[in-house]
Amino acid sequence: MYELTINQLSHAEFLSQYWQKRPLLIKGGFSEFEDPIEPEELAGLAMEESIESRLITNHNSDWQSYHGPFEDFSKLTEQHSTLLVQAVDHWHPIAAQLLEPFRFIPNWRIDDLMVSYSTPHGGVGPHLDQYDVFIIQGQGKRHWRVGLPDANLKQFAQNKSLLQVEQFDAEIDAILEPGDILYIPPGCPHEGYAVENALNYSVGFRAPDQKDFLSGFADHLIDSEGGKTRYCDPMLSIRESKGQLTSTEVNDIQRLMQDALSDPEQLKHWLGTMLSQPKHDMDLAPLAPPLLHTELANYITTNDIIERAGGVRTIYQVLTDSIVLSVNGDNYSLATKHLESIKLLTDLPHFSGSEIEDSLNCIEFAQMLTRLINEGTYFLQEDD
Ligand code: SIN
Ligand code: CO
Repeated sequence: MYELTINQLSHAEFLSQYWQKRPLLIKGGFSEFEDPIEPEELAGLAMEESIESRLITNHNSDWQSYHGPFEDFSKLTEQHSTLLVQAVDHWHPIAAQLLEPFRFIPNWRIDDLMVSYSTPHGGVGPHLDQYDVFIIQGQGKRHWRVGLPDANLKQFAQNKSLLQVEQFDAEIDAILEPGDILYIPPGCPHEGYAVENALNYSVGFRAPDQKDFLSGFADHLIDSEGGKTRYCDPMLSIRESKGQLTSTEVNDIQRLMQDALSDPEQLKHWLGTMLSQPKHDMDLAPLAPPLLHTELANYITTNDIIERAGGVRTIYQVLTDSIVLSVNGDNYSLATKHLESIKLLTDLPHFSGSEIEDSLNCIEFAQMLTRLINEGTYFLQEDD
């Protein structure tokens, strides 16, 4: 397991002083850091159709960007090139462990683990990200500069899939060594160039904007055949100008729209599905043969360790008289008495059978966990 130290700061101090506020260089955030993945394995992932990857080169300041999957790595030249692979946590269980030390930030805010391999002078150039990121230095060294948000900085497209930003003043200017970490809040310009062949791990976060939430909710209304209350005006009276849409009418329309969002239970169910939706395909190993829920209490012994598969998104919400557990876009309604068991499923990467013993004997909990185990979302750790 990776153990994170944030310069002598507690998690709470980091959140209050730096999170979404200021970039931070964390020297030796992971001591004696060992890479969870080798460059060759990363290249293997970049050959897969279902895995999102990019290769960026910057020979003689000419930026080029190529999208995977890659059949060969001739573009990954000895210098001036970077290979980037998204959502490695979905595909590589050991690399997925790198997310765990950052789970002092809630599950639903965590996006994915992106891994890059850069050859000397390689990088993606100066740019801004809309999201918080921790960039962990793996093998090799990389020279990073990070600036503060500046509304005057102009962004431009180096080519159609590479957005960069003009030069900026650096607040942090450092050569990262294995185990060093950079925390970069949204909107801080940054650039990093490999000094020697380097692996970097980006723990990325997400923060949907109003458009994401509203369009997602509109899709939900269509799917659930909701939102059908129509505008009405039984008190309509003659007005001086027929062309006018009055402020009162605008207020009525605004209220009509807000009413669609006003049922907190419906909103919570929908948020559960939206925010637990995996970003990329899952690489789950379904249990064969599948279990019946009546077999679950015998299948899981008190000594078994139950693990959550990499990339699985789990959250729960407490409703008035039940709990909604959301796993990879599916909701399960469970009795409030299962709260402690649900916390184990969502808060921890693994837990023991004895900790959920009571819940296992309850049919609704057993049905839910049987389904999750059958699809491979949770599985029993194999004995060494
Ligand atoms: C990289 O690892 O090359 C890119 C990370 C970033 O700047 O977001
Ligand atoms: Co970035």
